[in-house]
Formats: sequence, structure tokens, C-alpha cells
Amino acid sequence: MKIALLPGDGIGPEVTAAARQVLDALALPGLVLFEGDVGMAAYHRHGHPLPAETLAMARAADAVLFGAVGDPQGDSLPREHRPEAAILGLRSELGLFANLRPAAGWPGLEDLSPLRPELARGIDLLVVRELNGDVYFGAKGERITEAGEREGWDSMSYSESEVRRIAHTAFEAAGKRRGRVTSVDKANVLETSRIWRETVIEVARDYPEIRLDHLYVDNAAMQMVRAPGQFDVILTGNLFGDILSDQASAVVGSIGLLPSASMGERTTEFGTFGLYEPIHGSAPDIAGQGKANPLAAILSLAMLLRHSLGRETDAGRVERAVAQTLADGVLGADLGGEASTETIAAAVVSNLLSIS
Ligand code: IPM
Ligand code: MG
Repeated sequence: MKIALLPGDGIGPEVTAAARQVLDALALPGLVLFEGDVGMAAYHRHGHPLPAETLAMARAADAVLFGAVGDPQGDSLPREHRPEAAILGLRSELGLFANLRPAAGWPGLEDLSPLRPELARGIDLLVVRELNGDVYFGAKGERITEAGEREGWDSMSYSESEVRRIAHTAFEAAGKRRGRVTSVDKANVLETSRIWRETVIEVARDYPEIRLDHLYVDNAAMQMVRAPGQFDVILTGNLFGDILSDQASAVVGSIGLLPSASMGERTTEFGTFGLYEPIHGSAPDIAGQGKANPLAAILSLAMLLRHSLGRETDAGRVERAVAQTLADGVLGADLGGEASTETIAAAVVSNLLSIS
């Protein structure tokens, strides 16, 4: 079993080091770890945020555990050298089209949600975000208008096959959950969304047991704060999914708790190849201070064990150790506590060792 660790920028190295302690505590036989440079750190060392050797390392692995990329120093760089280009490059080069972002309230932490506790308690949703298309990867550029002004432009598109494969992911995920898919688009305005919606309806015919509905993205954003408990699986495109998944993390209380998996079609000896990352970013304002909550990275490791290494039992153990840590009140600053990254990681490891 090969895992590529890509810590990246900001708090990425701290939280992936914590996840690594948890991985070490599992003592998996036959596990080999590689570590590569990515993001601003890689740009400084290799002149590119996604060096060829890092990409090759990711390709050769069964799974990638990713920290975060992003650095204020990158703001002035051309787009292809910005640290964000690294994660976008990995997603497209590795064909990771399906991004799974679960968001559920943690029992006992309802008070952390900006929503009323009775609303927060009911949240248990999964955002299935398309990750290889949309306005993210369309042609883009800058041109001069007839009036002599600079104009930025980006093109948005989805083909039927792109929509079909992510729709299958969502319907299959819903089959293992509460059997509901809400497809989110802007079909009242965008042609991209019209094709999206028509294709999702077509795919739904293969899943008669799943209940499908459709929301425009503005309405979906409103419903997520008004009545988030109504959602099971939210199926959406790259841009809307980016926005709604941050919102989903905020309504459960902390972005520091949410993991994600990005998967494609490639299978490995043990499962499906994937890249796993906390959904929080690099948080440069708190980097290097030992304040970052490593739980999202640790929960990303659990998803990696489950989906890419076929180690369901170990994944469950890690998740229970995290739940115990939260139940014991070992909370980072993001959750209103004072525990350091180190303290939280040590608590998870100790809980893990007492769970068989
Ligand atoms: C995310 C991030 C990325 C995205 C950035 C870092 C490019 O916001 O994973 O949600 O927009 O997809
Ligand atoms: Mg985002």
C-alpha cells in the first residue's frame, strides 16, 4: 500500500503531520509513505507549484493525503504558478472528477453552529461536487473591449458525459444513505445548467428507488441555512459545489472538522484511487503556531483508508477515536477550546489505541 503525503502550505504540514501520527499508530503492515512538495513550498524549491516528480509520485500511489495549498505570496504570481494551480492540476491530471464532501453535525457540538441547535442537529448531508469541468477548466483570458477596457472572461460548459458520470456517483451514494438526491443548478439562466438538469433526469431513470429533486443554486444556498436537515445528497457542478460545500461546513459549526475525498475511475489493488484533503484551506494567519485543528485531516485519512485501501475497520476506528476526542472536550480554538494541534493529535492516538 503506497500513500503519497503532500503537506503543502500554511497549516497543511501541521495537520498532515498529525494525520501521519494516527496512521503510524495503526501500524498497517506493508504500508509505504512518500512525501512530496506541492503549492507555494514547491514553487520556491522547484519553480512550479506542482513539480513533475510530485505528480509522478501521486500517480504511482494508491492514495494521496493532501494538506492545503495557498499563500498570500502567491497572489501576485501568474495563474499557472499560483499555489492553487497545484490542486487544480492534480485533480485534472489524475482524473479526479468526483469530490465527496460530507457534512454532519457532531452530537454535543450543536452550539458551535451559527444556526439554532435544533436545526444544526438535523444536518447530515453529502455534497457530491463535479471536479474536472465547469468554469474552472474552461477557456479563460483577458481581452480588450472595443471601448479599450480590459475585460476578463471565463467559459462555463458541461458535456453530457461529464454530467452522467458524476450523477451516477451521486445516485450510488444516495443508495447507501437516505435515498435522496438534490441536483443544484441555475437552469433558469444557464445553458450549461439546462444540459446538466436534462442529463441528471436521464440518469435518474436507472435509479427508480432514489428520489430526485432540483433546486436553483440561490434557493439551495437559502435552504441550507433555513432547513439544512432536508438535504441528503447534493449533486452539483464545480463552482456551485465549491461555494455550497464551504457553506455546509459553516452550518455544522467548524470548517476544521470536514474531510473530503476526490476520486476518479482508476482502481487500485485495494479500492479506488483517490486524493483526500481537509476542506479548510492553508489558513496562513495561524500557520506554524500549533493552533490548527487536525481533525479534518485525520478524518480525511479515515476516508482514504475506507475508499482507497479497503480498510473499513481501521477507518471506523479512526472515526470513533475522533468522536471520543470531541466528546472528551479536547477542542481546538476553532471549536471554542484551547487544545493545540499536538494535544488533539495525541488524544486521537490515545483513543485509537484503546479502541479495538
Ligand atoms: C476547494 C478550494 C479550491 C477550489 C481552491 C484552493 C482552488 O477552495 O477545494 O474547495 O476552489 O476548488
Ligand atoms: Mg473551496
